[in-house]
Amino acid sequence: MDIKTVATTPFQGQKPGTSGLRKKVDVFRERNYLENFVQSAFDSLQGFAGQTLVVGGDGRYHNRAAAQTILRMAAANGFGRVMVGRGAILSTPAASCVIRKHGAFGGFVLSASHNPGGPKGDFGIKYNIGNGGPAPEKVTEAIHARTQTIERYLTLDTPDLDLDSLGEARLGDTVVQVFDPVADYAEMMAGIFDFDALAALLGGDFRMIFDAMHAVTGPYAKAILEDRLGAPAGTVINGTPLEDFGGGHPDPNLAHAEELVAALFGDGAPDFGAASDGDGDRNMILGRDFFVTPSDSLAVLAANAALAPGYRDGIAGVARSMPTSGAADRVAEALGIGCYETPTGWKFFGNLLDAGMATFCGEESFGTSSDHVREKDGLWAVLMWLSVLAGRPGESVADIVRGHWRTYGRNYYSRHDYEGVDAAAAEGLMDHLRGLTGDLAGAELDGRRVAMADDFAYTDPVDGSVSSRQGIRVLFEDGARVVFRLSGTGTEGATLRVYIERFEPDPAQHGLETQAALADLIAIARDLAQIEQRTGRKEPTVIT
Ligand code: G1P
Ligand code: ZN
Repeated sequence: MDIKTVATTPFQGQKPGTSGLRKKVDVFRERNYLENFVQSAFDSLQGFAGQTLVVGGDGRYHNRAAAQTILRMAAANGFGRVMVGRGAILSTPAASCVIRKHGAFGGFVLSASHNPGGPKGDFGIKYNIGNGGPAPEKVTEAIHARTQTIERYLTLDTPDLDLDSLGEARLGDTVVQVFDPVADYAEMMAGIFDFDALAALLGGDFRMIFDAMHAVTGPYAKAILEDRLGAPAGTVINGTPLEDFGGGHPDPNLAHAEELVAALFGDGAPDFGAASDGDGDRNMILGRDFFVTPSDSLAVLAANAALAPGYRDGIAGVARSMPTSGAADRVAEALGIGCYETPTGWKFFGNLLDAGMATFCGEESFGTSSDHVREKDGLWAVLMWLSVLAGRPGESVADIVRGHWRTYGRNYYSRHDYEGVDAAAAEGLMDHLRGLTGDLAGAELDGRRVAMADDFAYTDPVDGSVSSRQGIRVLFEDGARVVFRLSGTGTEGATLRVYIERFEPDPAQHGLETQAALADLIAIARDLAQIEQRTGRKEPTVIT
């Protein structure tokens, strides 16, 4: 079959952010926009001739069309096999699982994660490498550099393939295999968790709700929780993936998972509630009348890891992103295992997991996972929590978390987001903070003495690569801290994120309301960054 060489010209602004390239659907539909990115990826990679590429996405609007484009281009560029999930569906953790299991060269994940979908919503693409994880910075930088000089892309002149029937077809010399997006992933979960114990839990009086938020985890959750573990039909709500996520915002947090939150905080609440996001990598965990912060969730799961057979022999270490609370650090210290602090974004965990230095990792932004894949994994976190509940009969979610605080102390923690801020004002605010860092050590702010302040830089302990300018942190002598950074995933204006934390060892003080417990630090952060003066915002848009 003839390979077609199509002339193209570079687009500005194709630099991948925290987790890939995310833009409005309209931008992705501009002539050659997607093609430029995909060809730039191929041009930046070596040694894939005859190899396997995995393709799939979260089912949002434009997912199918984009998948067809990528299949043709992958064939024209010389991949031997392209594995695509049926319906072009593949959750992010399942993509990671499939890439690893089938020894693929890499894969494209089509998703804008928790951002709204539909014709007016967002679309995104991310390249994952052979370990199943997001491409490291040296690869994303090379892809970006190539997008700035690209002059042609390669494709085939072929009609769309049927992506809804399992089986194999040919595109030129390339085999395209449409596979069941759930099977490999479900099998992997059965290998990590004690499905008999979980089935016994779900077959008893225990009640749970899983909210798939009309996004990709619906089919995965139904297959695992309802079909394999025997949870009653209806346990999974909003379980059919929709191109526009039912008009909702598929972000599992207290603001967006309204139906689930109402159920868990209402009369006759079930024992356990959980939700996952657009592409299935995030998770929110709720007990009856109780919200588990993602930072606490990571710490609790690390402390109870041995309750799942996959981690029976213990875990090697815990890694968390810098802005994530230090709750997990205390568990690592108690267990005498490694503890790592990385920049924001899952790609920074890859080397630690590959090297066997960390087994569990997590971010404050509702991300938790282990070394079973190289992405965060929403359903894994749910099954891990169910394993903890099954292994500690008689204890509720709230009992387990409160008990954890009694043992390790409580890290009060909150994130304040200022969304849609003027980009120049946001940059100015960060420059202002950067200018202050040198002089803050030793200063007293509202009665708290600053131990140190810097713009976080990370040296990867495995490959020595350095990532600088990863967020301003101000650490106080009493262990409290405030952190400032700009989001790398937004598609409109800038989002300023302010992270606030303090440690409270005294169990008598563990029952405070979070914002009240952090009030003085919140005020310090506002003043220090001159938030109102520089952005015009009196209050954050979202408080987590
Ligand atoms: C956000 C989160 C970050 C996460 C990323 C992808 O990135 O803060 O922890 O890895 O989404 O889910 P941000 O918008 O802050 O750059
Ligand atoms: Zn996501």
